[in-house]
Amino acid sequence: MSQPLPQEARLSAPGEPAGPLYTWWRGDPLPALLVLSGLSVELARELDLLADLSGLPAGEVQARVEAGNRPYLARLDGVPVAYGWVATRRASIGALGIAFSVLPGNRYLWDFVTLPRWRGRGIYPRLLQAILKREGQAGRFWIGHDAPNIASARGILKAGFTSVGEIYRLPGGSFGMAAADSLERARAGATLLGIHLVEAGR
Ligand SMILES: CC(C)(COP(=O)(O)OP(=O)(O)OC[C@H]1O[C@@H](n2cnc3c(N)ncnc32)[C@H](O)[C@@H]1OP(=O)(O)O)[C@@H](O)C(=O)NCCC(=O)NCCS
Repeated sequence: MSQPLPQEARLSAPGEPAGPLYTWWRGDPLPALLVLSGLSVELARELDLLADLSGLPAGEVQARVEAGNRPYLARLDGVPVAYGWVATRRASIGALGIAFSVLPGNRYLWDFVTLPRWRGRGIYPRLLQAILKREGQAGRFWIGHDAPNIASARGILKAGFTSVGEIYRLPGGSFGMAAADSLERARAGATLLGIHLVEAGR
């Protein structure tokens, strides 16, 4: 971290990190990925298909859409292979119990899955990049994953996202985020999630 944190944020962050947060801001580099022949990405209209693929009840899929979430579906030669959700109004990190408003101009990406038989072909980073291009009204995109999810981390970084920081569970049960490289982005991410910035390991 290049700059000191403001005094009010000098909380320590002991314990294990819960997981990283990443961001991509419009104008950031979008790494060139080789074309994956036959891959297409669409805003999913067939909610029953999405329910089948995800195993979610159709009512839950419908409720997500009504709450301002947009489902994207990737197909390979027409066959559904992956999906993911873009939150435009409210979002939550279920595993941590953090719920927050998605500020105007921001998008929170969540619940991404490549169906098991299609994993390891680079579909995930291409789906993420397609969403960055499709959601042209938004300038800031955010995504995270559980600490041990290396496959997700690799796909997110390949798509062009950069790490904002690590989320920690603080004594007392609240959460804090230790900034990665950019204090500006860490502040923006912590504000979005409604958590403090902290210094790790102090
Ligand atoms: C995380 C996930 C979406 C990645 O999708 P994907 O389309 O396979 O992504 P990629 O092809 O770019 O592979 C990403 C990484 O997965 C790992 N991987 C490679 N082959 C794999 C396979 N057959 N099975 C599982 N993981 C594999 C590799 O670490 C790979 O990175 P690398 O190619 O740089 O070595 C997918 O593994 C998944 O659906 N996992 C379960 C749900 C999940 O964790 N979602 C993410 C929540 S944010």
